Amino acid sequence: MSSSPERGRLIAIDGPAASGKSTLAQHLANKLGFLYFDTGVMYRAATLAGLQAGIPPSDEKRISELAFELSIDVRPPSKPDGRQYDVIMNGEDVTWELRSEAVDANVSEVSAYARVRQAMTERQREIGRRGRVVMVGRDIGSVVLPEADLKIFLEASVKERARRRHEERLARGEDVEYEEVLESMRARDRIDSSRDLAPLQAAENAVIIDSTHMSFEEVLERALELVQG
Ligand code: CDP
Repeated sequence: MSSSPERGRLIAIDGPAASGKSTLAQHLANKLGFLYFDTGVMYRAATLAGLQAGIPPSDEKRISELAFELSIDVRPPSKPDGRQYDVIMNGEDVTWELRSEAVDANVSEVSAYARVRQAMTERQREIGRRGRVVMVGRDIGSVVLPEADLKIFLEASVKERARRRHEERLARGEDVEYEEVLESMRARDRIDSSRDLAPLQAAENAVIIDSTHMSFEEVLERALELVQG
């Protein structure tokens, strides 16, 4: 594994929804003293902004324009309510709105648009250029930071992922059925994996970790072994 001294180490973590990417990335970043950056919030923000402005998610032209104009700022968490960070969109704290069912249901359509991806990928590369980053998403190892020193593709069965996401949502006090979460996750998996641009897939040189039957501690331990080479 090579590591350029100028760039510092770049770690890319990709995988489907609720595979445990965000928690793993946050722990790794803390241990290494790196920045943690979750690119999903950018696609979620573009989706939310469209919904708030009353633009149908199918209106590619207007959604794309909005993606380029959008101000998205990710900051350390200001509240102890389970959030990993604050997301400020056009000056407003939208951290939890980004996790709403409406955003979940529409984000895959929005994130398949070429110009939306272009707007977000440019911003993500800028963050990557600073080095010492753990970046999380669907296409980080394959498209955004193909030069990353370590690429992890974290997966788990769709039923296990739906079970985890359902528990998260119940813990947040939401009234939601497991079947509903499973269906929405299947739909998102389908669109994310089959789109033409930057589809969800492991980069050629990614290490695949299947976390279906692993505890979080086991996943973290495996990832730390990989970081240490
Ligand atoms: O947290 P969860 O895994 O459910 O989703 P997320 O990582 O916040 O990503 C939400 C959606 O954004 C995904 O389903 C993809 O459609 C899109 N996305 C993407 O296309 N590329 C990325 N690098 C990150 C997210």
